[in-house]
Amino acid sequence: MKHNENEDISSILVSEEQIQQITDRLAKQISEDYRDDERQVVLLIILKGSVPFAAELMKKLTIPVQLEFMKVSSYGATTKSSGEIKIHLDIKRDDLKDLDILIIEDIIDTGYTLNRLTTLLKNRNAHSVKTCTLLDKPSRREVDLTPDYTGVRIPDAFVVGFGLDYNENYRTLPYVGILDPKVYSH
Ligand code: PRP
Repeated sequence: MKHNENEDISSILVSEEQIQQITDRLAKQISEDYRDDERQVVLLIILKGSVPFAAELMKKLTIPVQLEFMKVSSYGATTKSSGEIKIHLDIKRDDLKDLDILIIEDIIDTGYTLNRLTTLLKNRNAHSVKTCTLLDKPSRREVDLTPDYTGVRIPDAFVVGFGLDYNENYRTLPYVGILDPKVYSH
């Protein structure tokens, strides 16, 4: 029988109500900041974890935006080629020069992914590249990266829900919670 994923959560870290407050605040700030922008604004949604956050944020924006998606993975500092990022799904646009890109992430951990993605998009001549994350774990940072828009800073806990997974599960929970250690410690 299928079980209820809520039962594997030991505590709620960011509630549904807090997510509403965060996305209200961020959408207002983003809409103000880009209001007089004469270029096309593109929300670049990084699969898979950012989907619930992006969906909540985009409906609250009061400026027109277009959507793009990428799926990437980065390997930290230990791989042979530093600056390495693997692209699993790419944008199908040749010319980024007239675009103001806002990358939407669910979480920043070491910072490698956003750091390298930002560099990649600037190398492709995007007019501007900014970053927005729901969750930030600054204590885990290994590269110098401060997001332009941050939902909430969190401690270094094993978090799942609202896009974040453990073995691809828990992404559809409507809040961010701490996973009960009994789930992964056996
Ligand atoms: C997560 C997250 C970021 C990255 C952050 O993605 O969405 O892209 O890790 O980590 P970093 O700051 O250490 O680079 P993940 O690779 O887990 O993919 P997913 O969203 O498909 O689960």
